[in-house]
Amino acid sequence: MSYKIDVFSTAHSIQEEDVRGKVIVVIDVLRASSTIVAALVNGAKGVIPVEDMEAASKIALNLDSSRYLLCGEKDGKKIDGYHLGNSPLEYTRDVIEEKTLIFNTTNGTKAITRANLAEKIIIGSFLNLKTIVKELKDVENEIILLCAGWKNRLSLEDNLCAGNIIYDLMEGTLPEDASDGAKVAFVLYEKFKDNINNTIKTSNHAKRLKNLVNTDDVNYCSQLSIFDTLPELNEGIITDARNGSKKQNPKSK
Ligand code: MLT
Repeated sequence: MSYKIDVFSTAHSIQEEDVRGKVIVVIDVLRASSTIVAALVNGAKGVIPVEDMEAASKIALNLDSSRYLLCGEKDGKKIDGYHLGNSPLEYTRDVIEEKTLIFNTTNGTKAITRANLAEKIIIGSFLNLKTIVKELKDVENEIILLCAGWKNRLSLEDNLCAGNIIYDLMEGTLPEDASDGAKVAFVLYEKFKDNINNTIKTSNHAKRLKNLVNTDDVNYCSQLSIFDTLPELNEGIITDARNGSKKQNPKSK
């Protein structure tokens, strides 16, 4: 089967008309995508990605405070007054089980909200890479791998993950007519595929996080296909489509 696949390198590089009718995989390896996967694995009821703090407060007003948590970061640091930051290691079952998480991050959640006119939006990371590739195998629509990047700059780890998805989906062979974005990601993965963890450690954001957080997020987020989780956005809330429950967004009741 041949696939029409493209890669966008930053959240802001995508426009509404780019996503219509397409299947979008939003990739923010460090750390938003990885945190969403970890949260769903550890029993979160759902994750509501928001554009900014204002949107987060508006949604929180409508929710029963015993059932939701305000989560996220600004410039990598936990936002004052929020329950959790953006380290996937904070999202343990005892803290988040059965909670709805309102999630606000610098780049990842902006990428998700900018893609909202797409046919389908799923969340990709190294943690659930195999599940993403399996899901894309049956896709006939055009596919866009939307890398969140960092403040409109390309992130090495996001493009590496995009390259890994393309490489596995196309069984190691990239068609001649592939887009520039797909070619760059593919070649990047081909070069570093035997050394993913150390390559991610050299990335700008890994260095940024080293000075910001004391949790081992980079090692955690570099693990390959350890979760069979398919986070999918429906009506503003992300749930695990693998367990077949596309939950109603509490806001829309
Ligand atoms: C983001 O969304 O920009 C990142 O997840 C930032 C971070 O690592 O906290």
